[in-house]
Amino acid sequence: FHRVKIAPSILSCDFARLGAEIEAVTQAGADMIHIDVMDGHFVPNLTLGPDIIKAIRPYSSLPFDVHLMVSPADLLIDRFIEVGADILTIHPEANPHMHRTLQKIRYHRKKAGIALNPATPLDVLDYILEDVDLILVMTVNPGFGGQTFIPSQLEKIRAVREIIGMRSIELAVDGGISAETGAQARAAGATVLVAGTAIFKNPDYAQGIKSLRS
Ligand code: DX5
Ligand code: ZN
Repeated sequence: FHRVKIAPSILSCDFARLGAEIEAVTQAGADMIHIDVMDGHFVPNLTLGPDIIKAIRPYSSLPFDVHLMVSPADLLIDRFIEVGADILTIHPEANPHMHRTLQKIRYHRKKAGIALNPATPLDVLDYILEDVDLILVMTVNPGFGGQTFIPSQLEKIRAVREIIGMRSIELAVDGGISAETGAQARAAGATVLVAGTAIFKNPDYAQGIKSLRS
């Protein structure tokens, strides 16, 4: 069985102590830091932008996995890369020129991801599979932490697993991931678990991360 990667979503951390929180999950055994960027337009919430990412970059040597819930993301890609994003994941509904935007990310030798909302059909993957390094299946509707995992997405995770085949594309899941739903997602083929509440609401981050791994 593959070793699952754990990506704590800082959306659920104490924003007043952002640097220390990132340091803490890094020491607790995280594999990457998941950063949710929201624009109040594509999703009904606002979070943070490149200047904050620049400020927190020194607090961890782990890859920064930047989830761009932003419409459009195209004009911001260069800036996010400049401040230290390693993986940039974009939503097709927010970005009409997916091929071009994914190519732009790859051109800078960064990893390109595509995020699928719960109702997004899988045909958006047609013709761009060779251009992505990560597929992020949203297991909640994006916008907020602490929502309930949508069970119908397990079938989608299995379908994406099939589509990926032997390609080296990560299959990440995001939203409502607990030890229980995380295990279901892994059994369905997920290789990366994004989790906010399950890690940051646990007083012991290392224990929270471990419970997602086992
Ligand atoms: C939701 C975000 C998630 C969120 C997950 O729009 O993309 O990354 O932080 O939070 P939990 O794990 O609490 O569902
Ligand atoms: Zn996210």
